[in-house]
This record gives sequence, structure tokens and C-alpha cells, in this order.
Amino acid sequence: MSLNGKTALITGSSRGIGRGIALKLAELGVKIAIHYYQNELAAKESLAQVRERGSDGFIIQADISRPEEVSHLFKQTQSEFKTLDIFVSNARPEAHTFYKTPMDITLKEWDIAFNSQSKAFLVGVQEASKIMHEGSRIIAITYSAGSRTGSWQPWVGMGSAKAAVETLMRYFAVALASRGITVNAISPGPTQDGLLDSLPEQTQDLIKEWHTQWSPMGRLGTPADIGNAVALLCMEEASWITGQIICADGGISLMNPELPLELQLG
Ligand SMILES: NC(=O)c1ccc[n+]([C@@H]2O[C@H](COP(=O)([O-])OP(=O)(O)OC[C@H]3O[C@@H](n4cnc5c(N)ncnc54)[C@H](OP(=O)(O)O)[C@@H]3O)[C@@H](O)[C@H]2O)c1
Repeated sequence: MSLNGKTALITGSSRGIGRGIALKLAELGVKIAIHYYQNELAAKESLAQVRERGSDGFIIQADISRPEEVSHLFKQTQSEFKTLDIFVSNARPEAHTFYKTPMDITLKEWDIAFNSQSKAFLVGVQEASKIMHEGSRIIAITYSAGSRTGSWQPWVGMGSAKAAVETLMRYFAVALASRGITVNAISPGPTQDGLLDSLPEQTQDLIKEWHTQWSPMGRLGTPADIGNAVALLCMEEASWITGQIICADGGISLMNPELPLELQLG
């Protein structure tokens, strides 16, 4: 599989899943616009790793909660790359900025979640489509467990915002279908090197141990797993897949908490 000579803008590619996506696409010959918010050093490290893989790109800063900064991202990308083949909407603010239960979340925290997700995706796709052409790919990184369920109470803001992104993704898929641009979402299962690594060590250990017990593949995801899923959707052969949520989660979303685990896993 080669995507040689193509260009991609990946928001939040200074670290975590975004970096994993950047490195996989770089391996396949894609030039990458590495976007970051505050962590310029990490963005430079992502770019260095892109270059180690024989590709190239540039780094760019923006607060994706601000529509004018999202627009600027695409203007800068156009001036560097001329056109854009792949846009991955991946960035997400730090959990402490929105992590509150339904009864406690403030409007400010709610807006942080929605501005950084659905509003950023709305503006991002509108801008991306101006510099895209037939065969281009738009991919939103969501978390569909948070959109479908209500159990992780302090995730209400981000879960609702990601649900809005998933809905918007379907509307854009129809809007851009006649131009041969596909719009999909990838929903990772719990993945190392991102939010999880910022949790206290004891919580991390609990989560890792929990996953070895009940998840079908018995492990957490890696940024490379999500990079691989993005790469598959970017292949020419994926041109008939649009408006879908692909769960890249080792089968986690197939499990049913209504039944005891012994019955589920046989
Ligand atoms: N990790 C998981 O287990 C998991 C599971 C399901 C879905 N996801 C989704 O996957 C995506 C990436 O998650 P992650 O855990 O890899 O994230 P992460 O490691 O916490 O990285 C977040 C990225 O977003 C950027 N960012 C933060 N606030 C921003 C802002 N206001 N404006 C622009 N960029 C901002 C950060 O830039 P700086 O480096 O400059 O701060 C960083 O590049 C998210 O959409 C998340 O919801 C993650």
C-alpha cells in the first residue's frame, strides 16, 4: 500500500493517537501538517519522526476551539501543500477542562467540549473541502462508547460533543459524496500513550489489568493501531466507504455488560 506524494493535516498530531496516525501515513509517503496546541517541542519531535520515515511536512499551532484559528490551519496548509488529500480531526483538550458529571458541568466546560469537537469539525470540513479534490479523505476520531452510553458520568460533555461529530460526519458524507470525497469516523478503544497515560499510575494499572481480563483481544490499543485504521480508509480501495463509524478497538464494542463475563467469553 502506498499513498506516495499525498498530503495530510492531522490535528493534535504532536503526541498520542495523532502522532501514531502521522507516523503511519508518513511511512506510506504522505507529507504531514503536524498540528499542536501548546506543546511545540512534541510537535517538532513528531516532525523529526516523520522525516526519519522518509517523508516531510511542517508544524502548525492553533487552538481548535477558535473557529478563526481552525480556518487559519487550512490557509497555512494550502500555502505549504497547495492541495489537501487527507484531513484527520483528532485533537481533544485536556480532560480537566471539561471532566464533570451531568449535574455539575458548567456551561464553560460544556462549550470547551463542543467548540473543540463539533464546531471545530464543522469549520474544519468546510475549509478542508475548499482545497480537496476527488478521492480525498476526511476522518473524525471519535469515541462512540461515550456517545452511545451514559455510564462514564464525567464524560458527559465530551461524549455529547463526540455524538454531534458522528452525526455531522454522516451529513458531510452525503454532502461531499458527489465530489468523490469520503467522510468517516474511527472510534478507538482505550489506547495507550494518550489520556490514559495522564491518569494516576494506580488508575492506569487498574485499567490495563481490567482489559486483560474482559476485552476480546486482552490488551489496550496503541497509537499505531489507530494509524493503521486511518491508513486503510485512505486507500483508493476504500473509496466506496463513507458515512461510517469504524470501531478500532480489538472487539471491545462487541461485548455486552448485561451478561456475566464467564458466559460471554465462554
Ligand atoms: N486515548 C484514548 O484512549 C482514546 C480513546 C478513544 C478516543 N480517543 C480520541 O482520540 C483523539 C486523541 O486522543 P489522545 O488520547 O491521543 O490525545 P492526547 O494524547 O491527550 O493529545 C491531545 C492532542 O490534542 C491537542 N490539543 C489539546 N487541546 C487542544 C486545543 N484546545 N486546540 C488544539 N489542539 C489541542 C494536543 O496538543 P499539545 O500537544 O500541543 O497539547 C495534542 O496534540 C481524541 O479525539 C480522543 O477523544 C482517545
